[in-house]
Amino acid sequence: MTEILTLSAAQMDAALPDLTSLLHTCVQAGANISFVLPFSPEDAAAFWSEKVRPGVARGTRVLLVARHNGAITGTVQLDIDTPPNQPHRGDVCKLMVHPEARRQGTARALMLVLEAEACRLGRTLLTLDTRTGDKAEPLYAGLGYQTVGIIPNFALNTARDGLHGTTIMYKAL
Ligand SMILES: CC(C)(COP(=O)(O)OP(=O)(O)OC[C@H]1O[C@@H](n2cnc3c(N)ncnc32)[C@H](O)[C@@H]1OP(=O)(O)O)[C@@H](O)C(=O)NCCC(=O)NCCS
Repeated sequence: MTEILTLSAAQMDAALPDLTSLLHTCVQAGANISFVLPFSPEDAAAFWSEKVRPGVARGTRVLLVARHNGAITGTVQLDIDTPPNQPHRGDVCKLMVHPEARRQGTARALMLVLEAEACRLGRTLLTLDTRTGDKAEPLYAGLGYQTVGIIPNFALNTARDGLHGTTIMYKAL
């Protein structure tokens, strides 16, 4: 059975090898989640330690993981480090599921727990962006996220072989 857990900074430290491996594997498999190739395990570890852990320790970032038979198979984050005039908003970031664990409902389960956690924290407007045309777009649409529009040529493809658009989406909880 897959369980969804919120990690504290200390739990994140213990899970760092698993998180590093998950991110590295997903990017190597072509996930468009801000990184480009070459992407080393050290790059992946630095992302968790330098970009995610400080927010988790401060309480401005919620880190969720999916665990199946003891292994971390997916993750997503809720960034609530919003400006003073947006205390009701949160950003959904870095949803990823291990390639071997996909199409089993893990991403959907992560998102449902993220939304429950957002509500608990008083964050009733969720925003995100996702690579236009990627698999995550129908996932978010199926969860009720509305499309605002597309920004063309927003980012480099992971393989650096061209630019892609990003789709901006939101959901009022
Ligand atoms: C996008 C991603 C997170 C989906 O994870 P997942 O656990 O396989 O998704 P789920 O099994 O929960 O799928 C839920 C729904 O999303 C949609 N979906 C997911 N994968 C899909 C695919 N390959 N093709 C079409 N629709 C898909 C479907 O509607 C699916 O429902 P269904 O299986 O009942 O048809 C995963 O493919 C991934 O990690 N991709 C690389 C990273 C990435 O792109 N992250 C998004 C960042 S914004």
